[in-house]
Amino acid sequence: VTCGDFSDKTVLITAGPTREALDPVRYITNHSSGKMGYAIAQAAQRAGARVILVSGPTQLATPAGVERIDVTSAQQMLETVMAHVKSCDIFIATAAVADYRASHISQNKIKKKDDELTLTFVKNPDILKEVACLPTPPFTVGFAAESQNVEHYARQKLINKKLDIIAANDISREGLGFNSDQNALHVIWADGDKRLEPQNKKHLACALLTVINDRYNNKKTS
Ligand code: PMT
Repeated sequence: VTCGDFSDKTVLITAGPTREALDPVRYITNHSSGKMGYAIAQAAQRAGARVILVSGPTQLATPAGVERIDVTSAQQMLETVMAHVKSCDIFIATAAVADYRASHISQNKIKKKDDELTLTFVKNPDILKEVACLPTPPFTVGFAAESQNVEHYARQKLINKKLDIIAANDISREGLGFNSDQNALHVIWADGDKRLEPQNKKHLACALLTVINDRYNNKKTS
């Protein structure tokens, strides 16, 4: 199976969740397993790319030939992405980055006290947006995990974040998306779209790369 020719290309991929500390023993995170991002990393490496995978905490083995850098928080993910983005041709943001982090990480374990506990959160940097807004950005692919108005919200992200492609993930569909082996994507760009039907994430990664390769070549020659 060919997923396009990625030789001479460097692909930077974020995958998995981020983990935002609350105190020395607790954190908030989400259900991302990293499977989608790791599948894309593996398929891109097999298609000839140099692949740098910036990964949040996952249980997955590093795909052969892929350069993996482990991070924990959104801020670390941003720093690592920014350190490598200049050398990359294509950036694919598969990670489920926490939108907020605790405004203050408690030095000591937060003690059980009242019946209610209030914590304050501050917004995390938007890694995808920062990359896409660079003076000379790479070809940029975002994901949109939505549970309602999927296409509408995905198109907003495509425009607002100045992306080349957005891959919309309808997470209301049973057995697809977060932490499953199967997924489906509605891939959208400025003047077209393609629906990739439910399938194993490894096959889906290849189908997505085929679209990316197509749109990348189209942009180069236009
Ligand atoms: O890891 P799996 O279990 O295999 O699941 C795959 C997945 C469902 C996590 C994946 O397919 C997916 O949809 N990833 C994006 C999840 C998400 O957080 O989407 P979002 O709509 O919140 O973010 C939109 C885009 O901005 C994403 O490309 C995200 O990586 C990026 N982002 C978001 C927030 C932030 N602070 N920085 C970012 O870069």
